[in-house]
Amino acid sequence: MEPTVTYRTFEAEGDLDALMDLVDKELSEPYSIFTYRYFVCGWPQLCFLAVERDDGGKEHCVGALVCKADLHKQQHMRGYVAMLVVERRLRKRGIAKELVNLGIQRMVEEGCREIVLEAEVTNQAALNLYSKFGFIRDKRLHRYYLTGTDAYRLKLSL
Ligand SMILES: CC(C)(COP(=O)(O)OP(=O)(O)OC[C@H]1O[C@@H](n2cnc3c(N)ncnc32)[C@H](O)[C@@H]1OP(=O)(O)O)[C@@H](O)C(=O)NCCC(=O)NCCS
Repeated sequence: MEPTVTYRTFEAEGDLDALMDLVDKELSEPYSIFTYRYFVCGWPQLCFLAVERDDGGKEHCVGALVCKADLHKQQHMRGYVAMLVVERRLRKRGIAKELVNLGIQRMVEEGCREIVLEAEVTNQAALNLYSKFGFIRDKRLHRYYLTGTDAYRLKLSL
């Protein structure tokens, strides 16, 4: 039977452990606890979790989108996507699409005029996903990641 996945924003301290476990397992770039706290404490309304319940009703975090929104160059509100991840066994079922959709909607509500993020130039899954939402390649960032890989800065004008 297809697992049922539901979506909600970050709620409690317990969510932080689940988020860190998922990101550590699935993303190449390591993040410190300070980075997680910066986002989830500053913008809990912009941190979305995809959760699956087991037979006993216990929640498991299977996907996450971590964003922020703030004033850019004292001119306009700008959204930023810091992390997006979906557990490997549940990929290609539209979970990331739903998370990004929720994030964009909320950033629009917060008055953002644009959203930016970085993605590895080799990350075809992420590049395809974001291009479907209308993100364009704004610039190429040389050796942006610890692995030495370049990144594209992607931008969506709202
Ligand atoms: C990128 C990632 C979040 C996509 O999650 P997902 O839930 O599998 O994505 P979805 O099922 O919502 O796919 C949405 C679109 O993304 C693109 N896509 C997703 N996986 C893809 C793949 N393996 N190859 C090519 N395109 C892919 C497709 O355009 C897809 O649309 P379609 O289903 O109409 O073809 C997931 O692969 C992941 O967690 N990767 C590791 C972490 C990561 O790279 N995060 C992004 C950092 S910028």
